[in-house]
Amino acid sequence: MLLVTTLIIFFIMLIIIIIELQSRISGTIPAPTWAKTRNRMIDLFPESPDGDILELGCGWGSTVLALSKRFPNHHVIGYEITTLPFWMSKLRIALSRRKNITILQKNFMADSFENAGAIFTYLTFRHMKNLEPKFIAELKESAVVVSHSFPLPNIPPATTEIFREGFWNSTVYVYKTPKN
Ligand SMILES: C[S@@+](CC[C@H](N)C(=O)[O-])C[C@H]1O[C@@H](n2cnc3c(N)ncnc32)[C@H](O)[C@@H]1O
Repeated sequence: MLLVTTLIIFFIMLIIIIIELQSRISGTIPAPTWAKTRNRMIDLFPESPDGDILELGCGWGSTVLALSKRFPNHHVIGYEITTLPFWMSKLRIALSRRKNITILQKNFMADSFENAGAIFTYLTFRHMKNLEPKFIAELKESAVVVSHSFPLPNIPPATTEIFREGFWNSTVYVYKTPKN
């Protein structure tokens, strides 16, 4: 019994250490967007986005799954740089048998966003600062960006929503044609 407990504690600590070390690469922890906020953010997407739907940093895969159900005729692409969340997303998508999702283990900054119709983000201020010039350079006029908690530094949002989820207030920023 003692051996089993020790092994479980060791395993949990190993996972925590791996997540902590990988967070240093990604610059953020794989904290998920809670369901109420996620659903509200998806409601703020266009009815039929003009191109692929991207999730920049898809974590454990809940949002890509929700997006693929809401937009069954669109290609949903989730980027996740860290290993455990990436494989968990892959597993969940395989089990769901949904065909319109691609999960990529790579830095989203390395890909072009020119085919994106709508983008979901829950990142950090630093990520949004780095993404802003990329959005300006690559996104088409019809593209929409919906960001949880972290605004773009210079482009004013088309709308901002604050609502309560659990003990917290969530702020969501919507950018239409994210250019200044
Ligand atoms: C706060 S979590 C949000 C997860 C998910 N989007 C959600 O809202 O539930 C941010 C995720 O972005 C990933 N990430 C951060 N920078 C990235 C990058 N440059 N390329 C790919 N993934 C990245 C992190 O590893 C982390 O899992």
